[in-house]
Formats: sequence, structure tokens, C-alpha cells
Amino acid sequence: MVIDSFLQNIPKAELHIHIEGSLEPELMFTLAKRNNISLPYASVEAIRTAYQFENLQSFLDLYYAGMNVLQTEQDFYDLTWAYLERCAAQNVLHTEIFFDPQAHTSRGIPFATVHAGIHRALQAGQQRWGITSYLILCFLRHLSVESAMATLEQALPFKSTLIAVGLDSSELGHPPTKFQPVFEQARQSGFLTVAHAGEEGPAAYIWEAIRLLGVARIDHGVRCVEDQHLLEYLIQTQIPLTVCPLSNIKLCVFDSMQQHNLKQLLDLGLCVTVNSDDPAYFGGYITENYQAVQAALDLRTQDIYQLAKNSFTASFLPPEAKAAYYQELDRWMNTTGLSD
Ligand code: ADE
Ligand code: ZN
Repeated sequence: MVIDSFLQNIPKAELHIHIEGSLEPELMFTLAKRNNISLPYASVEAIRTAYQFENLQSFLDLYYAGMNVLQTEQDFYDLTWAYLERCAAQNVLHTEIFFDPQAHTSRGIPFATVHAGIHRALQAGQQRWGITSYLILCFLRHLSVESAMATLEQALPFKSTLIAVGLDSSELGHPPTKFQPVFEQARQSGFLTVAHAGEEGPAAYIWEAIRLLGVARIDHGVRCVEDQHLLEYLIQTQIPLTVCPLSNIKLCVFDSMQQHNLKQLLDLGLCVTVNSDDPAYFGGYITENYQAVQAALDLRTQDIYQLAKNSFTASFLPPEAKAAYYQELDRWMNTTGLSD
């Protein structure tokens, strides 16, 4: 089996995908037309050409502008369905999806509209392909703690369909500590917690996310290597990192994929996973992320297997479901006859 087919077909989970970041330029045009919105681009190619970023903020500016085309429940359904089609094609058996409600409620789109479209598509995806999924509500950290608290209140009626809350958007200058009261309230209401930390921000933000927000996973976290004590803690506790290689290159977190520390973290024994973050903006879905790190870091079959296994281990699935996915992964590995 050639390597590309191996990476595409190996059973895997995705744990770090912003559904709004899966809005492909083609769908952006379709929705703009449907909703009578004019785009500042002449063509799909012009949009793709504009996707050159020098840091996280330069990406976020286009990301928030792009999602203005999302207006109706059907728009959110179509967005989510298109992502699930990619999951089916890349053998993603389970996905845990972020959404940014404040980026929509601030434009007058009700929380319930956003939620209904995404949730309905996830249910349909399970029916159609058997893909299991959880939904994670992210607070935008460049907005106030009061706004986050109001968003948590809005989410409570939908609690049974939301597994966790997270924290995303502009990291520098917005440390996790700012959101401690909201995360405290969220945990009391029964949500698990995750947070983006150590993407552009320092290792100290990862410590804060763990100690003050009680996170079960760190999103990105690649700057953990700057703190030896933190590295040892992550190895010992197995708190997972959801790493997004293509994102890290597009946003200049590393100068090149050869310099990415994924393999270093894997070899040290951290529970690292591979994810796409915002695939429509960063040049690929989960398989393309596996392909990029495999080629640049010369990953062996055993490394890829470990990354796929970690993706189920780091998920919020109950132990029986994890065990079933491990079995499926092992059965699939045996059919390939690959070893090295
Ligand atoms: N929102 C969407 N993608 C993000 C990223 N990579 N970091 C922080 N916030 C985000
Ligand atoms: Zn992210």
C-alpha cells in the first residue's frame, strides 16, 4: 500500500477543527449568492491567493470576515455536511468540532440557529456514515469575560448536545486567567474544558490553562518545549496536545515543516495528535496534515499508528467506544501487512 493511501485510509479521529474554518471558497461564493452578500473577491482563485498569513491575527481577520456569509440554519448545515463528506473520504471515524457562537450572535444570528444547523448535520452524518461526533463551544478570548459568561448562559438549554467549552482567537495578551470565572461556571454546569494555549503564547499560558481552567486537553501547545518542568508534567499526566501542523506553518509558528516539533514530542512520550484546525484556510484536511508531517519528519509506520491511536485516546469518547475504535484500528493495520 502506498503511503498516501495508508495515511488517507488509516482509521482516525479529529479533535481540533473549527467548523467555520472549513468554509471553502466555493461554498463561500455559493452562500454569498444565496444570501445576497457581496464579497470583496472576484473569484475563488482570488480568495485562495489572499490566504497568505504572517501570524494568527492576520488569519483571524480573514476568518471572521469570511464567515459573514453564514446566515441561516441551512448555511450552517451545509458547512458542516461538507466537512463530514471530507471525514468520510479520509476515514475520520470520530470528530470533535469547535464552533464560535459569539462570531455569529454578534452579527445578529441567534445561537439556536447556529447550533441547530451544525447539530442536525452531525446527526445526519452519523446516520449516513456512522461518524460519531461531539460539539465544543469556544469562547473568543479577544472579547470580554462578561460576553463569554453571557454565551455560556445561552448554551445551557443545549447542554446535552455540547461536550465541552474551549477558548480560541487572539492568544497574545489574552491569557487563560482572564476566563477563570467562566470556566469555573462551565465545569460546575457539567462541561469538560479545553483551551488553545502555547500556539503563539508562552508555556506559562499552558500552565494557566491546566491549573486555572482545569482543561482536559491543550489545543496546539507546541511551545511546551520551552519549559522542561511542563514537558515532564505533560508526559506524566498524558494531558493531550491537539497539534495542527499545516496551521503552524501557515501562521509562521515554525519556519518550515522540517522544524516542526511533533516528532520530538511524540518520541518524548507526550500524547500528541494531528488535526487540521482551519482546513479551508491552511491547505488541507487531516490526511494532508498527516502527509505533510510524514514527509517532512520522516515518520515511520509505527509513528503514524501511534498518532492515530492517540487521536482516539485523547477523545472524549467513553472507554468502551475507545476500545472499539482501537480494535478497528488494529484490524485495519493487520490488513495492510505494513511494518517497519
Ligand atoms: N480560531 C480559529 N483557528 C484558530 C487558531 N488556530 N488559533 C486561535 N483561534 C482560532
Ligand atoms: Zn484552533
